[in-house]
Amino acid sequence: MSSKPRLYSGMQPSAESLQIGNYIGALLNWKALQQTHDAYFSIVDLHAITVAQDPALLRENTRRTAAQYIAAGIDPSASTLYVQSHVPAHAQLAWVLNTITGFGEASRMTQFKDKSARQGTDATTVGLFAYPTLMAADILLYDTQIVPVGEDQRQHVELTRDLAERFNSRFGPTFTVPEVSIVRDTAKIYDLQNPAAKMSKSAESHAGVIWVLDEPSVTAKKIMRAVTDADGGVVFDRENKPGVSNLLTIYSVMAERSVQSLEDEYAGRGYGDLKKGLVEVVAGTFGPIRERVQELLGDPAELERLLAHNAERAASVADVTLARAYAGVGLLPRTSQ
Ligand code: AMP
Ligand code: TRP
Repeated sequence: MSSKPRLYSGMQPSAESLQIGNYIGALLNWKALQQTHDAYFSIVDLHAITVAQDPALLRENTRRTAAQYIAAGIDPSASTLYVQSHVPAHAQLAWVLNTITGFGEASRMTQFKDKSARQGTDATTVGLFAYPTLMAADILLYDTQIVPVGEDQRQHVELTRDLAERFNSRFGPTFTVPEVSIVRDTAKIYDLQNPAAKMSKSAESHAGVIWVLDEPSVTAKKIMRAVTDADGGVVFDRENKPGVSNLLTIYSVMAERSVQSLEDEYAGRGYGDLKKGLVEVVAGTFGPIRERVQELLGDPAELERLLAHNAERAASVADVTLARAYAGVGLLPRTSQ
């Protein structure tokens, strides 16, 4: 076994293309973490079906999500990047965890409360209710030590810790209790048309969303039309100049330069120049990623082979933990014949 700490995170295959906020807020972070950790990254398709889905689109988005992660630098030989449903142990352990989760405790999950309130009772399924126990299974199957997630997922990781401790005290030491690692908010990217709102795949209008896989000309137009202010100074000031500050954040991360050096370079030159510079930097980063994605999607057999290989690696770890949990609760083992 690797001596590096074990890390686990997941992303939903919920769009054809990632947006630049996913790239900066999640992907770049994961890319760095895979150097120092034994990292598992799953594309959580079983979570994706807890809300209504189009089957053909889900299949396609699962492939595309995998391709984008690989193209952007998740190395499938250093990290274990796989599709959740390819490893049956996730659904199996989730069932066991459901049996030690209180109804009241699951009802208190704020994501469930928000989503079910938005959808209404009729559209809200038992699957959506059990979303957090499936996520707990993801994490616990791999003896995970660290779970890097956004603030919105903190409560789910805390539930995971509670379930691990409860199981261990009822049935004996079985699971590693994971730590949450909250991804800093400094890398939060805002909508180009509405810099008060977080950029999101599910934004009502896409005019302010930069997609990793968009044509460069489309991205250029969106950046050139980004909302700024009447002041004219290229200065980072999140309060009073949210639009310009957002452009500076994106520029700084993508070009690996300090905001200060950008302020110096563009001092007295106006927003048009800043935007043109940003267009170039984004095209320079996303161009090669788009090409690599096209290559990966153009050879589906190779992508499938890669995912199958990684799923096998994941299953060999997960199956051992599942067997421990099954034995712990008293399920009679099926002996081989
Ligand atoms: P989502 O697309 O909301 O499922 O998010 C997937 C990952 O991308 C999560 O780790 C988010 O924290 C991150 N993310 C999504 N949107 C942004 C954004 N606008 N700025 C920074 N990170 C983001
Ligand atoms: N629920 C997470 C999200 O929406 C995705 C996820 C599923 C996850 N399983 C996980 C994240 C396990 C970390 C660990 O962002």
